[in-house]
Amino acid sequence: MNFHIYHVLLFLAVQTPLAYLSGCVSRDYNNGGTVCVCNGTYCDYIGDIPKVDYPKVLVYTSNMEGLRFQKTVASFQNISAELRDPADIVIESHRSYQKVFGFGGAFTDATGINVETLKDDAREHLMKSYFSKDGIQYNVGRVPIGGTDFSTKYYSYDDGEPDPSLKKFALDSADFDYKIPCIKVAQNLTHGKLKLFASAWTAPKWMKTNGAYHGGTIKPEMYEAWAKYYVKFFNEYKKNGIKFWGVTTGNEPSLAKFPLVLFQKLASVGWTANALAKWVAEALGPILHKSGYGDLNIMALDDQRFYLTWFMDRVFQNTTAKNYINGTAVHWYYDTLFPANLLSQLHYKYPDKFILATEACKGFFLSRGVKLGSWSRGEDYAQDIIEDMRNWVIGWIDWNMALNPAGGPTFLNNVVDAPIIVNGSANEFYKQPMYYAIGHFSKFVLRDSVRIESSQSSKVWSIAFKRPDQATTIVLLNRGKVDQDITIADAKKGLLTLTVSEHSVTTLLYW
Ligand SMILES: *[C@@H]1O[C@H](CO)[C@@H](O)[C@H](O)[C@H]1NC(C)=O
Ligand SMILES: *[C@@H]1O[C@H](CO)[C@@H](O)[C@H](O)[C@H]1NC(C)=O
Ligand SMILES: *[C@@H]1O[C@H](CO)[C@@H](O)[C@H](O)[C@H]1NC(C)=O
Ligand SMILES: *[C@@H]1O[C@H](CO)[C@@H](O)[C@H](O)[C@H]1NC(C)=O
Ligand SMILES: *[C@@H]1O[C@H](CO)[C@@H](O)[C@H](O)[C@H]1NC(C)=O
Ligand SMILES: *[C@@H]1O[C@H](CO)[C@@H](O)[C@H](O)[C@H]1NC(C)=O
Repeated sequence: MNFHIYHVLLFLAVQTPLAYLSGCVSRDYNNGGTVCVCNGTYCDYIGDIPKVDYPKVLVYTSNMEGLRFQKTVASFQNISAELRDPADIVIESHRSYQKVFGFGGAFTDATGINVETLKDDAREHLMKSYFSKDGIQYNVGRVPIGGTDFSTKYYSYDDGEPDPSLKKFALDSADFDYKIPCIKVAQNLTHGKLKLFASAWTAPKWMKTNGAYHGGTIKPEMYEAWAKYYVKFFNEYKKNGIKFWGVTTGNEPSLAKFPLVLFQKLASVGWTANALAKWVAEALGPILHKSGYGDLNIMALDDQRFYLTWFMDRVFQNTTAKNYINGTAVHWYYDTLFPANLLSQLHYKYPDKFILATEACKGFFLSRGVKLGSWSRGEDYAQDIIEDMRNWVIGWIDWNMALNPAGGPTFLNNVVDAPIIVNGSANEFYKQPMYYAIGHFSKFVLRDSVRIESSQSSKVWSIAFKRPDQATTIVLLNRGKVDQDITIADAKKGLLTLTVSEHSVTTLLYW
């Protein structure tokens, strides 16, 4: 039935003036799902979420067939506890876990370059789609310190001859042309709620043991200069009205050692756990504190799950470093090989150190690059968010927010996928299923929500949160090829029965 209504809506959309259009204008590229097309005059928005009173429950659904945030209303039945027992999912809101920090993406050069290729009107729709109250309300952003593989060249902020006193430190034109303008718009759209953290890919070559952008590590005599380089970066961004919430100890030290030829070219600084602890204890921690950045959250690792927990154990063995470090940043690559309970193991060893997921993307391995409309890539996002957050992760940050249809620009040809693909020549952009998948969390699981206990069902992936406004929100992911009838019991509310369509993501919200 939903599918039928969807087609009626689509028919009306084509037949009626734009003012009446509100849903997804879908396009099928034959990749097992659809994108929603936005241009200068039209874009789909989920809009503001209304409040409903008990026993009503808001139900938002996106699925492989093409529904996007389709809203329906269900109702709790107030029935006795005995009848609730066989429920598929039991919500226990008095048992709570981590507090949620937020969701977002990275202000890479590629993101800015692609946003720039759109005309003002379409560009505004793109930024609003991510950051506004009508969009999916991203509230976290990652900012590369210098270049990444999603730049047009290798660069640091102090290239050329050795300059340990950093006299020649200067931001790059990419900061002024791409990163800063995007961040400014996002800050405005979130009304100051946007929290930023910074990650460096490489130091200037002269600070490094191998004299190259890729691989090697920081020369011990340059530890102080490398920490002061971060301070300079924060100073320069502050001059442009941009303040940070956090910083990582550097993107993916594993890249410096990676066996694959492509990855060896990616800008990186290798760290052993002991060297990283030493650098944080001797340089980064004290220098940030001395320079007025003591309130920054320092996150160690910024690398894959396979470092858990052994690498962080060694870093935290140094109590000086441990005191400076507020949390651990993890990436999602190879998550299928390294189970999510490694995150819980880390949490239970260091319960006062948070865990933040700081990078994810599809199309990085085997099936490389963009797959327009791939629903299964959206499901992969939703599943990873659920698994991470069921294991104490406080937020989930995507990689490039916007790429071109070729999966770039990336000067090292490290093409990948992104939730929004920009087609500059048509002044269009395409919202991928990944955009809606992350939106099913970012729009509803507001900052300072708390994850609450919810039992797991073999029928669907699921997770539940209590929000600061006392609403309960539950996200359900059905990766199967059949619809599922689901019962949800909440002792305070009663029993909810609903059908979750095949290959769908659903968010429930009730007060
Ligand atoms: C923008 O998209 C809308 C909705 O699909 C369409 O009606 C309109 O023609 C498009 N505008 C341009 C300039 O392509
Ligand atoms: C942000 O908002 C301020 C105040 O409304 C406005 O002056 C400024 O131009 C906006 N900046 C951007 C980049 O949108
Ligand atoms: C931590 O590392 C620093 C720098 O190497 C060192 O001075 C300090 O003694 C170490 N602290 C501990 C408790 O290991
Ligand atoms: C992070 O840790 C530092 C200690 O180095 C502390 O001063 C700061 O308040 C912590 N940040 C938060 C948000 O707790
Ligand atoms: C991008 O737009 C051009 C028209 O300017 C069109 O030929 C091309 O097929 C579009 N690319 C995609 C991926 O839709
Ligand atoms: C459900 O019904 C019981 C008994 O009829 C009543 O005491 C309770 O207040 C009801 N709960 C809600 C949330 O309406």
